[in-house]
Amino acid sequence: MREHIRFDKAAMALELLDQRILPERESFVVCRTVDDVIDGIRDMVVRGAPAIGVSAAWGCVLAAALGKGKEEVLADMERLAAARPTAVNLRLAVERMGEVLAEEQSLASALPRLIREAEAFQDADVAACRAIGRFGGELLEDGDTVLTHCNAGALATAGYGTALGVIRGAIEAGKRIQVIADETRPFLQGARLTAYELARDGIPVKVACDNACALLMRKGLVNRVVVGADRIAANGDTANKIGTFGVAIMARHFGIPFYVAAPCTTIDPATPDGDGIPIETRPDREVTHIGDHQLTPADVPVCNYAFDVTPADLVSAIVTERGVLRPPYTEAIAGLFK
Ligand code: MRU
Repeated sequence: MREHIRFDKAAMALELLDQRILPERESFVVCRTVDDVIDGIRDMVVRGAPAIGVSAAWGCVLAAALGKGKEEVLADMERLAAARPTAVNLRLAVERMGEVLAEEQSLASALPRLIREAEAFQDADVAACRAIGRFGGELLEDGDTVLTHCNAGALATAGYGTALGVIRGAIEAGKRIQVIADETRPFLQGARLTAYELARDGIPVKVACDNACALLMRKGLVNRVVVGADRIAANGDTANKIGTFGVAIMARHFGIPFYVAAPCTTIDPATPDGDGIPIETRPDREVTHIGDHQLTPADVPVCNYAFDVTPADLVSAIVTERGVLRPPYTEAIAGLFK
């Protein structure tokens, strides 16, 4: 699946497969302005760290195409970078586009270069995911059942996926792999999106309630955990979808390997450890309602943290497109960025 983020150069429009309504309907949201892209990222039309980075790169193209001057475009780009705080890929993509803009005399001369840069960014993400799949596929064994949390698949990237890329890589290497997708309350990325894209590819997948994890592990029904990441700090602490930390603790309890799969664009060497990673809080309504139906009493407040941080010592390995990192991660990550 590579058609879920597509840019129409003739129309100067970014088309995003609407991940809010999958698997019920396959429909695209068309973004013609930078504000459309900001709304699309904030409202989760597109989500997943690499996918929002790629979409933001295209948002920068729209900002430059419609902007009246460099200063206005840079201000738009800053608003884009702030659309969601946790995934570092978003800011990295915008910063790269900002560097291109800074090197050009005018918006007119910058525009074709920005388009080429966004295309390259999108292609590089698919290539990174495929390499993650090749490296990570070696960590899985024939017959494994892999539990994954959230959606770190093709939909969350420019294509192929990170955690699901590892699963695809193992299957392409001839291994028989089954997947358990945690449903991932409240946005249900596992139940809706992971199940949708794996079933579409004919990869055996079952959906489990988030709170079934310990029982499944206790019963010996899970051999490996593979998850994606939104930001990996310099010491290997890993922010990912809320609930990941609990899965990691359970995996440690049962002696099950817990792998993180992410491209180098998700590693943030400037953030020393997990305490420095900003954790997004999202609207209460995601927790209180399903569609128009209210689940909770009207006057009861909720907490809706979108991410948590898994400490590095619970992570068995980090799979990147440049190879598999093992503890101690501070040294391994520093080596990558030398
Ligand atoms: O809130 P989301 O759906 O954007 O959160 C996504 C995740 O937590 C993913 O696991 C992460 O971005 C990795 S995607 C390859």
